[in-house]
Amino acid sequence: MQLNVDANENINGTLVLPLWQGSEAMAEGSGAGVHRNLKNQIDNVLSDGDFKAKAGSSMTLAGLDEGKALLIGLGKPEDATEQSMREAGAKVIAARGKIHGTTLTVRFHDLEDSHMASFVEGMSLRDYSYDHYKSKDEDEEEEGELVIHVTCESDKAAALAAAASLSSAVATGVHLARDLGNAPPNDLYPQAFAKQAVEFADKHNNLEVTVISYDQAIDMGMGGLVGVGMGSERKPCMVIFELNGDKPGPSPCIVGKGITFDTGGISIKPSASMDEMKYDMHGSATTFGVIAALAESGWDERVVAVTCMAENMPSANAQRPGDVIKTYSGKTVEVLNTDAEGRLVLSDGLWYAGTHLNPSYIIDLATLTGAIVVALGHEATGMWSNDDELLANIKAAGEHCGEIAWPMPLFKAFEKEITDSKIADTRNLGAGRWGGSNTAAAFLKQFVPERDGEQIPWAHLDIAGTAWGAKTNKLVKHGATGIHVRTLHHLITGQ
Ligand code: BES
Ligand code: MN
Ligand code: ZN
Repeated sequence: MQLNVDANENINGTLVLPLWQGSEAMAEGSGAGVHRNLKNQIDNVLSDGDFKAKAGSSMTLAGLDEGKALLIGLGKPEDATEQSMREAGAKVIAARGKIHGTTLTVRFHDLEDSHMASFVEGMSLRDYSYDHYKSKDEDEEEEGELVIHVTCESDKAAALAAAASLSSAVATGVHLARDLGNAPPNDLYPQAFAKQAVEFADKHNNLEVTVISYDQAIDMGMGGLVGVGMGSERKPCMVIFELNGDKPGPSPCIVGKGITFDTGGISIKPSASMDEMKYDMHGSATTFGVIAALAESGWDERVVAVTCMAENMPSANAQRPGDVIKTYSGKTVEVLNTDAEGRLVLSDGLWYAGTHLNPSYIIDLATLTGAIVVALGHEATGMWSNDDELLANIKAAGEHCGEIAWPMPLFKAFEKEITDSKIADTRNLGAGRWGGSNTAAAFLKQFVPERDGEQIPWAHLDIAGTAWGAKTNKLVKHGATGIHVRTLHHLITGQ
């Protein structure tokens, strides 16, 4: 979508009016330049109580020949939050089918700066659909790119323009993450992801992308990545991103789980909904998305990232339950279930990040366990950390963005379960199925390197419930959500 912010009073296309519940907006002066017939219609539906402007509500008015309007309810001013404003903005795009044409003019009246900014952010985020694989129907009218004019009181226009340009830069990263999460697994395999990252870096001269190939991973002793990926024709790889590498470290480091398809391997999954396991690379999708958002928003300090890419397939070359593998850290793992593969690829990614990239902290993102969906549903990401300050900062950043990351425990008992192997240093399965996301987190903790005798600050985000199909997430229609691109952009930049 094309977004223009100005203090111009002209109305192009459909007039979009965000209205507070209980206010008489037209009478208050947002009616300038609105044709009398349309203005009368708006006044009527407001005074008759046909449109009450409750949060989440909308109404289209056809007008006469002189124009059309879309009314968006904001609810009561005292109940407004950044998230309710984002959702109201998203509603404009969701109502697109009811609007003729592709041009809109959103007229803000009597809104705080931050509320307008969130509304515009919501429009940008919701303006996404994944249709790369749909043939264009010749009879169907092409939807075309939206052109949205946004106007507000002239003393607020500059701040709004700045906020809009930041949020559309960040939305680029969110949409990239969704594209990657939605991409079919026959086309998005480890090397394809790597190629896309390399091509992205070619277009940004402050970004360096390095690919650790399958053969190199074998030579380096990355037994976790290799063990998971060796059963597939599409061999695994690790993709390293370094943004603004000329700036001094230590710097934030993001690590992503990137299973481009998770069949479970020899411990194969049931077939119902197995297609959704294409989004098992959403940790890497978010990681790439964060890098893109930072590049797009002009961030000029160093940030590094590691994506651990593999396809988990059953085959004659696949790893078996019972195998013992040696990870990049040197620690051995008894593989008791080949479907607990995310933790294996991440063990190598975390160790690589901590030992090669000079991180100030490491945050990993992974669609790691079904158990976190049982615990938190689709409402929040589970979060574990060895560092209270890092945890508090991520929690605050998530709240700011409406992407909740909820603290979960790293009890010693969980570490005990996961290190209790008869024949290896660790095992990739807890003692039973209870607390499955906690034992998974406890496993990852074994692979966070120390620095000066202390473990590097690290946090693990289990996004299995928030990365996909969250029906209550009004900022996305369906499919991959692009979760936490905004959280991490905000955490890193403060913006
Ligand atoms: N990718 C899955 C976790 C998952 C489940 C993500 C549902 C999204 C939705 C992961 O690799 C997995 O299979 N985890 C197992 C772990 C178990 C074998 C210990 C699980 O959650 O059942
Ligand atoms: Mn699995
Ligand atoms: Zn998985």
